[in-house]
Amino acid sequence: MPEIWVEKYRPKRVAEVLGNKQSVQAFLEWIRKWELGKPPEKKAALLYGPAGVGKTSLVLAYANEHGYDVVEVNASDWRNEARMKSIVGESSLQATLDGSTKKIILIDEVDGVAGREDAGGIAALKKIIDETRIPLVLVANNPWDPKLAPIRDRCLMLEFRRLRKSEVLARLKYIAKAEGIQVSDAVLEKLAERSEGDLRSAINDFQAITGGRKVVDESVIAALGTRNRVKQIFEALRMIFNAKSIRAARAALEGLEVDLDSVYTWLVDNAPLQIPDPNDLADALEALARADVYLSRVNKKQEWKLIRYAVPIMTGGVAVSRRHKPSGFVKFAFPSKIRFMQKTSKEREMRKSIASKIAAKLHLSTSKAMTQMLPYISFIMTHNEESGRALAKYFEFTPSEVAYLSGKEKIEVKAAKTPSRRRRKTRA
Ligand SMILES: Nc1ncnc2c1ncn2[C@@H]1O[C@H](COP(=O)(O)OP(=O)(O)O)[C@@H](O)[C@H]1O
Ligand SMILES: [Mg+2]
Repeated sequence: MPEIWVEKYRPKRVAEVLGNKQSVQAFLEWIRKWELGKPPEKKAALLYGPAGVGKTSLVLAYANEHGYDVVEVNASDWRNEARMKSIVGESSLQATLDGSTKKIILIDEVDGVAGREDAGGIAALKKIIDETRIPLVLVANNPWDPKLAPIRDRCLMLEFRRLRKSEVLARLKYIAKAEGIQVSDAVLEKLAERSEGDLRSAINDFQAITGGRKVVDESVIAALGTRNRVKQIFEALRMIFNAKSIRAARAALEGLEVDLDSVYTWLVDNAPLQIPDPNDLADALEALARADVYLSRVNKKQEWKLIRYAVPIMTGGVAVSRRHKPSGFVKFAFPSKIRFMQKTSKEREMRKSIASKIAAKLHLSTSKAMTQMLPYISFIMTHNEESGRALAKYFEFTPSEVAYLSGKEKIEVKAAKTPSRRRRKTRA
C-alpha cells in the first residue's frame, strides 16, 4: 500500500469523491451515453478547475468501479501531431477492435499544450476528439486560453471548484481516524483553512506534519509556513513593483515573515519580467546592486543597522525605477521556478528523474510532481527515516536520489546572479 496518503486515500468509488456534485453527475450521464452505445454529441469531457479538487480522482474512481482501463496521457509531453496520434490515436482505435477492454483516455494539462509554440498539438487533439470512439476526458486548470477555443466547442465543459472547508475537514478527520492519529480538531481546521479548498495539499500537509507520529500537537502547525510565505511574498512583490513612493515600497516588507535574502532574490529575478523598459531596468538593477553591498556587510560583519539602508534601496529603488509598466499583466515568477532555474544541470537532471518516478505512481504530470509532491516527499524523507525508506522503495528511488531528497547530499548550487544565503528575518 502506498505510503503517500494522497494516493492511499484516493477515492476508490465515485461516491467517495467529495464536492462538485453537479459536475460529477453530469460526468456520469455523459459516460453512460457511451455505455449505452450512443456516443454523446460531445465526445470529449473537459474537467477544469484548480488543482487538488478531484478531477483525476473522479475518472480513476469511475474506471475502478466499472472495470475500465485508464490510458493516461500527459499533454505537456506532446510536441507534435505525430506523437499525439501515436499515443491517443492508437489506443482509441484499438479499443474498438478488441471489445473486451473498456478504455477511457485521460489527457491531463491540456492548457499546457496551448502554451506551446507548436499549435500542432491542439490541431491533433481536435482531430482525435472528432475521431475517437471511446470516452475521452481532458483536464485543465485554466480552459479559457484562446488557443483552446476549438477544443472547448467540442467538449462537455465540467467545472470543478475548490472544495468547501467542511469537505476538506471531513476528509482529514477520516484519514486521522483511519491512520489512528490523535490530533485536535483545531489543527485539522487550520490545515483545512490553509488548503483553500485544495484537498491534495491539505492531505500532503497533514502527512508532513505528522512525520510518522501517532500523536500530533498544535506546535507542528508552525512547520507549515511555506505556502503562506509564498503568498506573502507575492503580495509584497506586487506592492513593491507598483508602489508610487519609496515609503509605500518599503511598507511592503512590514511584518513579512520572509528572510530578506529571499525577498532580494525574488526582486532580482522578477525585475526583468516586471520592468520592460531597458533604462528603467538598468536603474532598478543598480539599486539592487547597491542594496546588495549593504546586505553583504550585514551578513559578513553583522552590522544589523545597515538593514535600514538596504531595505529602502532595494524596495523603493526598484519602485521608482519602474517608470514604464508592461503592456499586459505579467505574472510573478514562482519561487520554485526561480530556484529551479538556478540549479545546476546535475541537480536538474536528478529532480527530473525523481519527478518522473513520482509522476508515474501518482497520476500527475512530471511538472506537477515536481512542484506539488517533491517538496512534501522530501520533507517526509528528511524528518522520518522509516517513512523515508518505505517511500524510497515505493517510488524506486536510487541511493543518490534518496540522499538528495533526505537532504543528506547537497548538490552544489551555484548562485549565478544572486548573493549567497543570508538567513534572518526582515526588519523594515
Ligand atoms: N473531491 C475529492 N474527494 C476525495 N478526495 C480528493 C478530492 N479531491 C482531491 N482529493 C484527494 O487529493 C488527491 C489529488 O486529487 P486529484 O483528483 O488528483 O486532483 P486534481 O483535481 O488536481 O486532479 C487525491 O488522491 C485524493 O486523495
Ligand atoms: Mg489531476
